[in-house]
Amino acid sequence: MLFGATGYTGGRTAEAMRDRGLHPVLAGRDPARLGALGERLGFETARADVTDTASVAALVGPEDVLVSTVGPFARLGGAALAAVVGAGALYLDSTGEPGFIREVYELQGPAAERSGARLLTAFGNDYVPGVLAGALALREAGEGASRVDVGYFLQGRGRLFSRGTAESAIGITGGPAYTVRDGELQTEPAGRRLRTYEVDGVPRPAFSIGASEQFALPRLAPGLRTVDVHLGWFGRASGVVHAASRLPAPPAFLRSGLEALVKRVPRDPDPTALAGARSTTVAEVFDAGGTLLARTRLRFGDPYGLTADLLAWGAARALEHGVEGVGALDAVSAFGLDTLLAADIGISAQTESTRSAQM
Ligand SMILES: NC(=O)c1ccc[n+]([C@@H]2O[C@H](COP(=O)([O-])OP(=O)(O)OC[C@H]3O[C@@H](n4cnc5c(N)ncnc54)[C@H](OP(=O)(O)O)[C@@H]3O)[C@@H](O)[C@H]2O)c1
Repeated sequence: MLFGATGYTGGRTAEAMRDRGLHPVLAGRDPARLGALGERLGFETARADVTDTASVAALVGPEDVLVSTVGPFARLGGAALAAVVGAGALYLDSTGEPGFIREVYELQGPAAERSGARLLTAFGNDYVPGVLAGALALREAGEGASRVDVGYFLQGRGRLFSRGTAESAIGITGGPAYTVRDGELQTEPAGRRLRTYEVDGVPRPAFSIGASEQFALPRLAPGLRTVDVHLGWFGRASGVVHAASRLPAPPAFLRSGLEALVKRVPRDPDPTALAGARSTTVAEVFDAGGTLLARTRLRFGDPYGLTADLLAWGAARALEHGVEGVGALDAVSAFGLDTLLAADIGISAQTESTRSAQM
């Protein structure tokens, strides 16, 4: 079952599912547009309003996999999640919103453990690469890992973002985020921390965000005391986000002004710009004294292509082989590190131990 196929990310996900031989039911609120899409791709369609739990629940059974790209998830994601938890089904989504991710792990996860549901939130460019890179660097670092930093970078020219991403980004950068400190999840504004990473030999700034890694990596390495995730998509503007994070809440007129601006962003990114995009995700693992133990760099191209591929690959893999565990799951614990690394989703990984280099 795929929700959101009439949107940009959902449309690409539907095509990626077709390319992998899946036959999802496309569900949504606009039968005419869904019907045309279903006919083109050879998929069935069903009418449902993703904000209405009963209308989603009527379509989902315990053996089903529901994939949702309907966002912003903080506003539109709760009902589908509740329906999946009620049915004991398997769920994947494309969110990148920290508040929603936290709700999945902290609130819906325990309910899902009771019903047998399996919830894989943020199963796209946000934030599977960082979980994978973090897990690879932690495996290389071995015992003694105390801190992980993950940074996301995107290089390219032109319009690289969809309107849906711009809408969600207002919530991500203007809202509360979180970090792991002393082994505990702590709430703090997005952008509170700023650091640079070296990407292709150039120092690039990035500001802190709430993501999946703060939940996933301590599960994989229970000795971890600190986990930070940084977004480096906006270059020098990272410093502005960092400065704004120290101000009291932004005035309401600023938020409504931004929302009005976002409505004028074209729905789709520019395909030529995306074709030339280069994405890099870096994970660095440190010991308790601050010595760098290991570093992983993941490289891929178009982040929307990766999101569509990941959702399609995850749905196909789950249908064929199931997943490990119940409740709120991350990509590595659900599918296994080496299975995820070997997935044909266009990611290349390079991991280095930095111990000997520093001796
Ligand atoms: N994790 C990542 O790396 C990543 C990557 C890409 C996108 N995203 C996120 O994915 C989300 C979607 O982005 P997008 O660019 O695809 O947005 P979009 O083009 O605006 O698509 C939104 C989709 O949601 C549907 N929808 C909205 N309200 C609905 C409702 N009440 N009932 C049923 N369907 C409803 C829309 O249906 P209609 O056509 O009927 O309006 C449309 O299919 C955003 O939150 C974005 O941030 C994340």
